[in-house]
Amino acid sequence: MHNAAFAALGLNWRYLACEARPENLRAAIEGARVMGFMGLNLTVPHKLLALDIVDALDVSAKVWGAVNTIRFEGRSTNGDWLPLRLFEKDPPVEIRSVGFNTDADGLANSLREDLKMELRGKRVLLLGAGGAGRSAALKLATEGVAELFLVNRTHSKALEIQTEIQKNFPSVRAGLDYPKTDVDLILNATSLGLKPDDTLPLDEKAFPLRPTHAVYDMIYRPAETALLKAAKTAGGKTANGLGMLLHQGAKAFEIWTGETAPLGVMRRALEQNIYGN
Ligand code: ATR
Repeated sequence: MHNAAFAALGLNWRYLACEARPENLRAAIEGARVMGFMGLNLTVPHKLLALDIVDALDVSAKVWGAVNTIRFEGRSTNGDWLPLRLFEKDPPVEIRSVGFNTDADGLANSLREDLKMELRGKRVLLLGAGGAGRSAALKLATEGVAELFLVNRTHSKALEIQTEIQKNFPSVRAGLDYPKTDVDLILNATSLGLKPDDTLPLDEKAFPLRPTHAVYDMIYRPAETALLKAAKTAGGKTANGLGMLLHQGAKAFEIWTGETAPLGVMRRALEQNIYGN
């Protein structure tokens, strides 16, 4: 998606995928810095490790406790740190790395765009309390949802998130277990659905799917998980996690380039690469 976006904006940039072992992450970031890379994306297991490696953290990385995007910045003659892009003709002597996190915004933007959902005041059933589940719960709380129901195989992890929400977002009601009444959104943040023989992440006996429930699955491969299929059959709105991948990428693109991301171009490139259509 990034290479398609660079081409669309006429930027002579390339996005490359590289693998580095966690113990070499510091060396990898340092290598990118001295070679004049504009930035990096990081994925598991590097997102947490990078917190202690980058030279500075944007507030987004501090809030979410993880780095998925790095921007390299140069020091200008008047001492300000500016994105490396602004030095294309005259490379700076001093370069630093700054860590950002675009994952949580990616989710909120995708819910808005793909489900046409405004989160303020909504009631949400959140399935999963791992890393993705925690970030989703906190993002939904910052967006002003009214009520969150946290369901997870390991109860203690849902309880930890509930405690965090109660402490930091007292206006959001955070309950454990399935709600007794309807919700506006069911959000799957578990890994159930990645494999064809996985069970549903939702206990349909405890909480049957209805046409009024919008269902979002963070999984994007397969494009339609068993949960999304069941939700469609029940007549509800659905979306998979492709939009989240797209929007976290679009935000990173804007951090590096300072330009508005060409979302349509990026979405088409993603769909072609992931689904081959
Ligand atoms: P991520 O960073 O993608 O969130 P994770 O932290 O490993 O990854 O979380 C995976 C989530 O899927 C957790 O909510 C996990 O439940 P547990 O906290 O009980 O482990 C959930 N999950 C994974 N496999 C599962 C299974 N077979 N049944 C139910 N939940 C499962």
